[in-house]
Amino acid sequence: MSSTLRFETQRLLLRPYEEYDSGLTREQMTDPDVVKYLTGKIFDENELTERVNASLVRSLCGAISVWVLIDHETGEKLGTSILLPMPIEETKPTWQDLDLNSLDSEIKIEVGYILKKSAWGKGYATEACTRLLQFAFEKTKLKEVWAVTDDGNAASQRVLRKSGMKDVGITKAYNENLPTFKLTKKNG
Ligand SMILES: CC(C)(COP(=O)(O)OP(=O)(O)OC[C@H]1O[C@@H](n2cnc3c(N)ncnc32)[C@H](O)[C@@H]1OP(=O)(O)O)[C@@H](O)C(=O)NCCC(=O)NCCS
Repeated sequence: MSSTLRFETQRLLLRPYEEYDSGLTREQMTDPDVVKYLTGKIFDENELTERVNASLVRSLCGAISVWVLIDHETGEKLGTSILLPMPIEETKPTWQDLDLNSLDSEIKIEVGYILKKSAWGKGYATEACTRLLQFAFEKTKLKEVWAVTDDGNAASQRVLRKSGMKDVGITKAYNENLPTFKLTKKNG
């Protein structure tokens, strides 16, 4: 799978995360409102470096990745979206540990998104999520894609439902019991 996997939607370009996107990570992960339902606290310098490095490792792999969402018209970076292995027991994602040949194994692949606050409320997360789900089912061997949210993250739950994902109750992820969503491939 190419490491330059790009997608277009009506308003967005999705392209793999690159080293020069570290400023976006900083903007996202040092905003208390953005991290409220993620880590609950803003990242320090070490955590930012770890996050950037992990994003780079994964985005280079292509098929499952971290993508940057870019406004077609202005070129502004609006946030990131992912298709990545969902950590179950760990509190931090072990993104480096995935065997790319095991995409159709027992590993749960999750879809996710983090937008800059200035980009909230415009339907961008739903647009990106829908496109990644389409990619997952049309271009990879995945038969299902998962998502979890914090209990209070109503906006994210709404995004998942608008993207066609179904509530499947509470499951364990990120070493917590979290509201979980799943979409299963049609005729798959
Ligand atoms: C969650 C997040 C991605 C949503 O992005 P977005 O681009 O604003 O989402 P969309 O505009 O596509 O859809 C949001 C929906 O939630 C609704 N919504 C927003 N805030 C809400 C709230 N507090 N309660 C209920 N619904 C809410 C919106 O009205 C909209 O639904 P609608 O289209 O039916 O009106 C964004 O707020 C974000 O990046 N938050 C920080 C990171 C994060 O929590 N990521 C998700 C981790 S699981």
